[in-house]
Amino acid sequence: MRAVDGVIRTRLHSDIVLIRQVAEYIIAAGGKRMRPALVLLAAGAAGYDGRHHLDLAAVVEFIHTATLLHDDVVDASELRRGRDTANALFGNAASVLVGDFLYSRAFQMMVDVGSMRIMSVLAEATNIIAEGEVLQLMNCKNPDIRIEEYLQVIRFKTAKLFEAAARIGAILADAPAEIEDGLARYGMHLGTAFQLIDDVLDYSGDEGETGKHLGDDLAEGKSTLPLIHAMATGDETQRRVVRAAIEHGDLNALPEIRAAIMATGALDETRRRARQEADLAIAALSTLPPSVHLESLLQFAAFAVDRRH
Ligand code: IPE
Ligand code: IPE
Ligand code: MG
Ligand code: MG
Repeated sequence: MRAVDGVIRTRLHSDIVLIRQVAEYIIAAGGKRMRPALVLLAAGAAGYDGRHHLDLAAVVEFIHTATLLHDDVVDASELRRGRDTANALFGNAASVLVGDFLYSRAFQMMVDVGSMRIMSVLAEATNIIAEGEVLQLMNCKNPDIRIEEYLQVIRFKTAKLFEAAARIGAILADAPAEIEDGLARYGMHLGTAFQLIDDVLDYSGDEGETGKHLGDDLAEGKSTLPLIHAMATGDETQRRVVRAAIEHGDLNALPEIRAAIMATGALDETRRRARQEADLAIAALSTLPPSVHLESLLQFAAFAVDRRH
């Protein structure tokens, strides 16, 4: 991961001052670096012993960072990684444009690696992420979203990049199809569990630990599983309160919403689903040979569910 950090720093460079300022601002704030770690672990678990995994890990982190810059603009978020968001500090225009810079830098870097299959996987992943974010936008302030639609949004906007990260590790190693598919399915389930917990933390997290404001989802009228479950199982009053808060994106209702979520066990239900996804992720690794990398991938699945940040 230290070597990946070196690649990130070198390839962040631009002669345009504002690009350096904004890109370094968000990258220097850190982040968990889960997706690049996944590239390295998948490559290791599949037996790769070259150097391209370091570049591709940086590529995946650049794509992730680009989506965060854009996501914080569309979500009107003000806190990320424990700091003011780039949009809060530099404005929406700079965030969108530097996000574009990071996307296109990632594509320059993957062309250097020169694998058509890897380019195809990452081109598809970025396209699906965009579809997921737009699908979510279309469902904004819609309390009638079905669970299947919600799950499609999180598979697209979040799980797809985890899936791609794990798959490209296997492709680098020239792994047989059952290993590549196992790693890809692992990434998809891991990413789904990860986003379910993100949606739990949006109501129950500690801002000092998540580095993000609580209630951002509610403020945007996002119907996430905690709210969907509270509406499906709550009494008449609870249903009405949650519906109205989603329709108006009403952050003032947060205390009442949290009470309804707690009373209906909606966070436990969301955590239960996340655990189910993590179990599926672990099961998908059954075809992999034993290795230290495999051990870490198994621990990673547990972290995706137990995390507080
Ligand atoms: C945030 O991802 C966006 C989501 C998909 C929930 P992370 O929680 O991995 O963000 P960083 O990189 O650690 O800040
Ligand atoms: C993040 O979704 C997904 C992408 C960045 C593509 P969210 O909007 O739920 O994530 P946070 O809570 O802002 O990190
Ligand atoms: Mg967001
Ligand atoms: Mg969120």
